[in-house]
Amino acid sequence: MELFQLVYISKITPGLRRQDIKSIMASSHRNNHREGLTGLLFLDRNYFLQFLEGDRNTLSRAIGRIWGVSRHQDMTLVDFRQTEGRQLAGWSTALIGSDAVTQALLLRHGGGEDYTPFTMPSEDLVNFTLDLVRYLSRGELTPQEG
Ligand SMILES: Cc1cc2nc3c(=O)[nH]c(=O)nc-3n(C[C@H](O)[C@H](O)[C@H](O)COP(=O)(O)O)c2cc1C
Repeated sequence: MELFQLVYISKITPGLRRQDIKSIMASSHRNNHREGLTGLLFLDRNYFLQFLEGDRNTLSRAIGRIWGVSRHQDMTLVDFRQTEGRQLAGWSTALIGSDAVTQALLLRHGGGEDYTPFTMPSEDLVNFTLDLVRYLSRGELTPQEG
C-alpha cells in the first residue's frame, strides 16, 4: 500500500467545550481505527493542527469528513505527501495539548508565544508537526488521550 501523510490546521469555533473535544475524539477513534488511519491532534488555545497517515483515498475521504464539522473553521490543508513508513502506528488519534514541551518545539520552528499557524510558513508547520510526531513516538510527549 502506498502510504501518505497530511497536515491541516483550523480555527477552533469559539465556545468549544470539553465535551466537544470528547465527541471529536470518540468518532475519530472509531473512524480511524476502521479505516487504518493513524495520527495526532494538537490542540492549542485557538487552533487545531492534525497529522494523519494512511492510504491516499482513505485520507482524502477523511478530509471531506472533517471539512464541514462546525466545531472548527477555516480548515486549511498545509501538506499532503507520500511517505515511506507509518510513524504513529500505535495511535488512532493522539490528543496533544499545548505545554512547555510543545511550546519549546514551536519556538524552534519560528512560532511564538501567540501561536499563529495561519501566518507560519508551511515548511515550518510541517517540521513542527514532524517533531510532535517524533516526540510522541519516542514517549517524550504524553498524550491527553490515545
Ligand atoms: C479538529 C477535528 C479533528 C477531527 N479528526 C477526525 C479524524 O481524525 N478522523 C475522523 O474520522 N473524523 C475526524 N473529525 C470529525 C469528527 O470525528 C466527527 O465527524 C465530528 O466531530 C462530528 O461528530 P458527531 O457526529 O459525533 O458530533 C474531526 C473533527 C474535528 C473538528
